[in-house]
Amino acid sequence: MDQLDALKSKYLSAVSDAADEATLEELRVTAVGKKGEISLKMRELGKMTPEERQVAGPALNALKEEINSALSAKKSALADAALDERLKTEWLDVSMAGRPRRQGTIHPISQVTEEIVAIFASLGFAVAEGPQIENDYYNFDALNIAPEHPARQEHDTFYMHRDENDDRAPNVLRTHTSPVQIRHLEKHGAPCRIICPGRVYRADYDQTHTPMFHQYEGMCIDKDISMANLKWTLEEFCRAFFQVDDIELRFRASHFPFTEPSAEVDIRCSWAGGQLKIGEGNDWMEILGSGMVHPKVLAAGGVDTDIYQGFAFGMGIDRLAMLKYGIPDLRAFFDSDLRWLRNYGFASLDAPNLHGGISR
Ligand code: DAH
Repeated sequence: MDQLDALKSKYLSAVSDAADEATLEELRVTAVGKKGEISLKMRELGKMTPEERQVAGPALNALKEEINSALSAKKSALADAALDERLKTEWLDVSMAGRPRRQGTIHPISQVTEEIVAIFASLGFAVAEGPQIENDYYNFDALNIAPEHPARQEHDTFYMHRDENDDRAPNVLRTHTSPVQIRHLEKHGAPCRIICPGRVYRADYDQTHTPMFHQYEGMCIDKDISMANLKWTLEEFCRAFFQVDDIELRFRASHFPFTEPSAEVDIRCSWAGGQLKIGEGNDWMEILGSGMVHPKVLAAGGVDTDIYQGFAFGMGIDRLAMLKYGIPDLRAFFDSDLRWLRNYGFASLDAPNLHGGISR
């Protein structure tokens, strides 16, 4: 037994003195490895009398276990110490200013969205949002687009999967931001003044169409709202957005299922010398669809149509960004090309706001 005690104190103190993992491993081999001192002692058990074995066996096992657990405790203590040491030498000051070359920029779509929100906020419009995966009712039915209505085909809709035995109409990726009108009216009722910027989806791809693009919807419902208010609001927006005082808009009669009457709106512009100038020249460019919200749409939103009426409009954000900042190809917005972003992007501290200015 004395022998075991001696072994125990020899190895335990060696373990506690070990300075690194290699020393620990050596110790493990010499003590409890296959040919280690303890293992050799265990082999001697066979030569003992049963009585001796009954005492020596458990004692040796206990010793082996004790040494093993001392080894692993020391091993993790050494690993912790090594990590502490690394953390001390490899620290990084994350509050340090980044190198300008690596700084991100604000995407033109984000910038223009902020500009739109800032302008409409000054006119008393709040921002409302809705889901991008929309159900058939909000995207179509509630907006007076019946199942057989040709507008459903025009929208090149992406349909979501439904199980075979599920006979509900499939959900869709919303094809426009108009469903937010219904969701907002259902929840908050009239009167209201909102804009709803967000992503929309249609199966289309060329220089001026991408399967995902951005729109914003505007809606103003109250007791005494007319097309005149719509016209003023849109002119005011265009003046602020394009930063041109002499804006001229042309309202062309059109048709949308969710408005009556409906109008498409063009803005006076010039393409002289291949450069777009808003507010002068003899060209007209279509920028949005609009109208007086259809009574059926108001009713779907739970609004009393004997009391309330109002206007709505929908505009493409990507298109506005292309026009304002002279970006020729819509697809570049979604290429994630850093060189493009550095050219067209905006400094992160230049976020538009009403007191700082809309665009800098
Ligand atoms: N939802 C239409 C589209 O995506 C745009 C639109 C037109 C919205 C007229 C309106 C509106 O609110 O009154 O093509």
